[in-house]
Amino acid sequence: MRQNIVAGNWKMNKTLQEGIELAKDVNQRVNAITPKCKVVLGTPFIHITEVVNVVDGDKVAVAAQNCADKVSGAYTGEVSAEMVKSTGAAYVILGHSERRAYYGETNAILKEKTDLALANNLRPIFCIGEVLSEREANTHFDVVKSQIKEALFHLSADDFGKIVLAYEPVWAIGTGKTASSDQAQEMHAFIRGLITDKYGKEVADNISILYGGSCNPKNAQELFANPDVDGGLIGGASLKAEDFLAIITAF
Ligand code: G3H
Repeated sequence: MRQNIVAGNWKMNKTLQEGIELAKDVNQRVNAITPKCKVVLGTPFIHITEVVNVVDGDKVAVAAQNCADKVSGAYTGEVSAEMVKSTGAAYVILGHSERRAYYGETNAILKEKTDLALANNLRPIFCIGEVLSEREANTHFDVVKSQIKEALFHLSADDFGKIVLAYEPVWAIGTGKTASSDQAQEMHAFIRGLITDKYGKEVADNISILYGGSCNPKNAQELFANPDVDGGLIGGASLKAEDFLAIITAF
């Protein structure tokens, strides 16, 4: 049966000291409850090792927010999947819309990153989603289909089963606008249908598909109640332990 996951994406926020305090706070709060989901903290690279050291890995795992599309070598400023793995991170967020929009990440580049992440035993949290003009032009299903097909459908069923998908309508990220519960379910069901067609029902049923885009303590319960929404990738609301916990307990 698929796993519910609530993953925080801190993006480019928190000094190292602030990040350690936040991770400790989240860890303590998660340990005081019995969460019905896996909790993941997506931290900047420099925080990972320290955060890994202050969380209980069976309940709270750590994700990098990116990795390189090259194995190693003269790529100044890049961090390889092997290096990420060596820090103790278990997940890596790939294909976030901010990476696609500001750093030119294409489906082809993301295919390389996914392969390297999997080769290094990192679980990709792979982001997909349309921009506002694509939704308005009613091409959002085609866009999401291409993102998945071009970056992920070369994988074996076994490897595809290690992927966590995060549907993030770009128009809902950091805007306070959330996809309606029906819009989220509609897209998540569409995605699961694509996976069923490619890999069969068993693989599709076991894939966790998270929703991201202004998910907060007020709307998490309604979003997570949908049959194909298996948790969230949380930006702004993951920066305060109290808000993040409220989302974790929304199942
Ligand atoms: O990775 C997280 C998403 O981009 C959502 O961000 O919750 O601040 O809208 P947000």
